[in-house]
Amino acid sequence: MAAAADGRVCSKPIVPASEPQPILSHPTEAAIFLVLVVSPGAEADVADVLGDVSGLKRSVGFRVPEAELSCVVGIGAALWDRLGAGPRPAELHPFRELAGPRHVAVATPGDLLLHIRAHRFDVCFELAQRLMERFRGLAAVVDEVHGFRSFDDRDVLGFVDGTENPEGAAAEGAVLIGAEDPAFAGGSYVIVQKYLHDLLAWDALSTEEQELIVGRTKLSDLELPDDVKPADSHLALNVITGPDGEEQQIMRFNMPFGRVGAAEFGTYYIAYARTAALIERMLSNMFVGDPPGNTDRILDFSTAITGGLFFVPSADLLESLASDAATTTDPPPASPPGGPGEESLRIGSLRAPPN
Ligand code: HEM
Repeated sequence: MAAAADGRVCSKPIVPASEPQPILSHPTEAAIFLVLVVSPGAEADVADVLGDVSGLKRSVGFRVPEAELSCVVGIGAALWDRLGAGPRPAELHPFRELAGPRHVAVATPGDLLLHIRAHRFDVCFELAQRLMERFRGLAAVVDEVHGFRSFDDRDVLGFVDGTENPEGAAAEGAVLIGAEDPAFAGGSYVIVQKYLHDLLAWDALSTEEQELIVGRTKLSDLELPDDVKPADSHLALNVITGPDGEEQQIMRFNMPFGRVGAAEFGTYYIAYARTAALIERMLSNMFVGDPPGNTDRILDFSTAITGGLFFVPSADLLESLASDAATTTDPPPASPPGGPGEESLRIGSLRAPPN
């Protein structure tokens, strides 16, 4: 039995729209991260644009298949409510600011996240341009980061970043919502933070000191043995095991960015998971400490200046938001064509199946 948005109970099972967005695409050389704030009253038009994202992606990317262009769209909690898309996914809420003894994970505004990736920057830029033409007058960009691949996937601290990401079926299991929230199966959660690094201070450390902070060797990218890895290293605080002793994994696609003239050196942190609580637990370990006070040493050289949490609907659900937004602004028909069972549940594309 499924509850409809207005509280009525539908006797037919929900058919989940589960074709995921291209979250699990290959690591790329370039990415553009856009965070947008939607203007009041523009919700239905924005939903229309969201329904066209995959078409725009095809228009740009089809001509350059080797670039493997992709775009993932995330929707913030407040916008989800404003779109009238029905009950929120179970773990969609505004990003929770975390204030630890030394460091703060700030929460910053954002209704939409666009994560554009390709092997070539020009293709990312073209898609970003086309998308912004459509969003003009409807939504404003509040943060824009152009990320680049650095050598063998190193961050600007000089360490290989992404090694322990899950692969294959494990990656899907780590990222995609399943039976725990069937109405949103095939979706995911994404948390982003823009970090700026104090490279002067970092570069003043010896390589051995840096390795103790990260928990891995710098050149060969090997995990330090447990008896050498400090409890306040980045790795020690981010390896979380479940009740069965298995490591609980997330999928990170961090990218370096910067402006040399401004001495700005950054990491755009972006992590997807089927449960936002896991990423939030990692953030708590880093910023509040585990145990409290034992905070991540990487934060002594890195400051988070943005923070946002978004729900990533399945591709089908994203496209259907457009049609649903249109119908929610229309007056409801006196009696639905095929009886009550044919009514939209107003949860994206979720509708009772045909008889
Ligand atoms: C200052 C920004 C950050 C930098 C430069 C950074 C860098 C790194 C590096 C170099 C590694 C080791 C290689 C790898 O497995 O990827 C790593 C691992 C990891 N990081 Fe971060 N990271 C940052 C922020 C975060 C945040 C905010 C989280 C979680 C909320 C996080 C979670 C993880 C996890 C889960 C691992 C893998 C641990 C393992 O399984 O061994 N990182 N990070």
